[in-house]
Amino acid sequence: MPNRILILGCPGAGKGTQARQIAERFGIPHISTGDMFRSHMKKGTVLGKQIEDYMHTGQLIPDAVTCRMMVERLAEPDCANGYILDGFPRSVPQAIELDNMVVQRTEALGVVIALQVTDKEIVDRLTARRTCPKCGRIYNLKYEQPKIEGICDSEGCDAVKLVQRDDDTEATIRKRLAVYHRVTEPLLAYYAERGLRQDVMGENRTPDEIAAQIEKLLITDGKIV
Ligand code: AP5
Repeated sequence: MPNRILILGCPGAGKGTQARQIAERFGIPHISTGDMFRSHMKKGTVLGKQIEDYMHTGQLIPDAVTCRMMVERLAEPDCANGYILDGFPRSVPQAIELDNMVVQRTEALGVVIALQVTDKEIVDRLTARRTCPKCGRIYNLKYEQPKIEGICDSEGCDAVKLVQRDDDTEATIRKRLAVYHRVTEPLLAYYAERGLRQDVMGENRTPDEIAAQIEKLLITDGKIV
């Protein structure tokens, strides 16, 4: 059965942390628009150059640019049996465009996980986030440290140094939160009206506890919804 899952939440809510686990557990691709944009910037593509200023200042990339990239990505063969979208859609026009994409392919969205975390927690979390530039694993200096300080634990990442994202400075985090509340938060009502939204508390619990709740929401009669 097709598995099309969306994970919504403010910057730093834990979308990437959870989406990576879900993708691994259910064998579906984890599609993060943020990771795709960062990869374009790293490779220095035309798109990468166009989006640099938006990314560094915590603004959203224009909807038309983002949707064009996603139309191409969702048409790739690995998406035929489902996916988990992390960071898309992020505005009502993007959600409408996603609805059009799935309808054109005679598909349907399965569930929208809405992670709930307060703004106060986010600033603490994101200034302490570190990521492996090779495997993408996410760490936190407060909550989830690597075994050796500053080095990724994953197999095949020996001696790879963890990095801090450019947009994880306090000023940019506050800007991203403001953009989230103004532009992305209306999606909570959008998906509630469609009967797809499932709220999950994303703070004061470990990532594993959150993952266990999400897994229960996703599985019905032994199958992913
Ligand atoms: P993107 O990369 O999507 O960033 P974001 O939405 O700001 O979210 P983050 O990746 O910062 O956080 P997350 O929720 O994944 O949290 P994580 O799991 O890492 O987007 C970046 C930029 O790209 C945007 O600003 C925009 O410019 C552009 N963009 C992307 N998509 C776009 C779109 N659709 N349209 C337009 N522009 C777009 O966790 C955070 C930290 O918390 C980690 O350190 C982690 O270890 C820790 N943590 C996780 N869970 C817990 C827990 N339960 N308790 C304690 N700590 C935890």
